[in-house]
Amino acid sequence: MAVMSATIGTAACKCSCGSNAGKLVDDRFPKLDAIIAKYKGKPGALIPVLHEAQQLFGCLSEDVQDRVASGLGISPSEVYGVSTFYSFFTLRPRGKWKIGVCLGTACYVRGAAEVVEALKKELDIPVNGTTKDGRFTLEVVRCLGACGLAPVMMIGDDVHGRVRPEQIPEILKEYR
Ligand code: FES
Repeated sequence: MAVMSATIGTAACKCSCGSNAGKLVDDRFPKLDAIIAKYKGKPGALIPVLHEAQQLFGCLSEDVQDRVASGLGISPSEVYGVSTFYSFFTLRPRGKWKIGVCLGTACYVRGAAEVVEALKKELDIPVNGTTKDGRFTLEVVRCLGACGLAPVMMIGDDVHGRVRPEQIPEILKEYR
């Protein structure tokens, strides 16, 4: 039993969220097991387990999903289905700063698509991509409820309104 625990504890996360690095890996899988144990047998356990697993690992990689499935005694496909259904779960690591550009109607007609293009160029990533340094993830979102400021983008919790493509390098400087 002790041997099995040691083996499980050194399992490496395959998602490039930094969890292939030695001790960190050892620490997180046993923590995930404790999270699973906390919710196991309770109704609706899967979603809170996935929430805490994502906080712990930064994303729900395949091996994290597998661990949750075996821990809760459910199928990996059920875990995968829930992980991909809700937009607040991610299978890939996100950057430190999540950039969300609104492509709702008001923002779109005021040039949000050009803002997206400027961000793609400046960060050298596609939509849903993360920069190599792990600093930024670029996403497009629906109406943020600030249509009067269109086009709108969010960086973390900061709202940037009436954004023009040429302002992007200057705006990103604050977050680099
Ligand atoms: S359409 Fe962009 S904030 Fe409403």
